[in-house]
Amino acid sequence: MAYASFSQFLTALDQAGELKRISLPVATELEITEFADREMKSPGGGKALLFENPTIDGAPSPIPVAINTMGSRARMAMALGVASIDELAHQMQLILKAKPPTGFREAWTLVRQGIDLLHARPRHVPDGPCKEVIHRFKDGAPPDFTLANLPILKCWPQDGGRFITLPNVHTRDPDSGERNVGMYRMQIYGPATTGMHWQVHKVGARHGKRYYQRNEPMPVAVTLGGDPAITFASTAPLPDGLDEILFAGFLRKKSIDLVKCESIDLEVPADSDFVLEGYVQPGETRPEGPFGDHTGFYTPIDDYPVFHLTAITHRKDPVYPATIVGIPPMEDFYIGSASVQLFLPVFRMNFPEIVDIALPAEGVFHNLVFVSIRKQYAWQAYKIMHGLWGMGQMMFSKYIVVVDDDCDVHNTSEVLFRLCANTDPQRDSTFIKNPCDALDHAQTIPTIGSHLGIDATRKLPTEGHPRPWPDLLKMDPAIKSRVDQLLNPKP
Ligand SMILES: Cc1cc2nc3c(=O)[nH]c(=O)nc-3n(C[C@H](O)[C@H](O)[C@H](O)COP(=O)(O)O)c2cc1C
Repeated sequence: MAYASFSQFLTALDQAGELKRISLPVATELEITEFADREMKSPGGGKALLFENPTIDGAPSPIPVAINTMGSRARMAMALGVASIDELAHQMQLILKAKPPTGFREAWTLVRQGIDLLHARPRHVPDGPCKEVIHRFKDGAPPDFTLANLPILKCWPQDGGRFITLPNVHTRDPDSGERNVGMYRMQIYGPATTGMHWQVHKVGARHGKRYYQRNEPMPVAVTLGGDPAITFASTAPLPDGLDEILFAGFLRKKSIDLVKCESIDLEVPADSDFVLEGYVQPGETRPEGPFGDHTGFYTPIDDYPVFHLTAITHRKDPVYPATIVGIPPMEDFYIGSASVQLFLPVFRMNFPEIVDIALPAEGVFHNLVFVSIRKQYAWQAYKIMHGLWGMGQMMFSKYIVVVDDDCDVHNTSEVLFRLCANTDPQRDSTFIKNPCDALDHAQTIPTIGSHLGIDATRKLPTEGHPRPWPDLLKMDPAIKSRVDQLLNPKP
């Protein structure tokens, strides 16, 4: 199901009992974070919060703030219009495995997939709700509505200022014309100026580099709100060149309506709550940060590009979407988990022996990866580690632990048991060199470092363990059902 607006999604959350409305005046400086952090740390991710009366520097803001809207398995699935993310993962698998049909049923399934993919293509429309109100910034002089009017959060005490935390940043490759949408936080520098925190490995940074080389200003549009499928798609680790707008259309089974920006040559989703239009000037950078980050620590100040606004357009009754990041678990855990679940069929297509993958919350996205495999031959676990380290943003995975297929990778305690029981640390580990997450403060040199892979599978004689591998304890099924019956006697 596709949502016509972010507000419609919030109404659906409300009706499902997944939204708490907070009518008290709550400060956008730190206080919203404290409310949201308590909610995100409650079992299963708590509820979404809608702050109906946020304040900016003590003054009331007429724009409500919604936070933690995707911060549970149920809400993440609702955001993508399904009962469970498994449904979408299954559709991905069907598309990847599509073969010529051998019967009517298979032909029909293929036709339906074709229709879904057709919906993925965006539609170009002349106007949209995101332009109900238009503020142009002439000659750099801000009009009466600027970034200062948005209820943008200062998240943590040592943050360098206010940050837009859930922005969909739209850019275009100047050579191929290919579009990209990525989520990169934006520090507020002034009424019409922000930072643009696309890290060196991200597609926005690659597009930016091409504009710098051509010495041309880079048009950038940032959308906030709209159908949450777009917000999710902008976080998803799609391969460079795979269009997030197309992907969002596929997820929600309805084309995204795109409308031209007012002051730059880019198109954006027409249903957005806000559109910030502007440009990044080649070579211009400014210190960005500190920021209380996904890692649970402050990322220090570093130089990043600067975004200059040329216009803000918005709906008549917009809602400002936000998240906070910090010590896990946070909302981003559920967003990241949905990505892993959706892309599991892609991993499996490359490595059919993979049974399941989990990125536990403690690993903050890619610091820790558990993979279970159906092992057939010696050193297969190492093949999987190297394969994953070579796939897109999995390159950042600091620790990969490979276990056998009978271990539930979503049960961290079970994986740690296998890790402790099944490994000789020296024999069963490998260190490699790879690019690292730019946020990782532990690396000696930022953005590069070592990664550790641990093979916690049962060892074969050819893997340096000449003795027979012992059996894992398992109760006889007949005894189990006898005890079941003793405990719960059937009448
Ligand atoms: C809440 C949230 C905030 C994020 N902030 C940033 C950020 O500031 N900079 C960045 O490079 N990636 C950030 N990411 C990760 C990117 O959105 C993610 O890597 C995405 O796949 C990048 O898209 P791209 O591959 O099209 O560049 C964030 C992710 C989430 C969920």
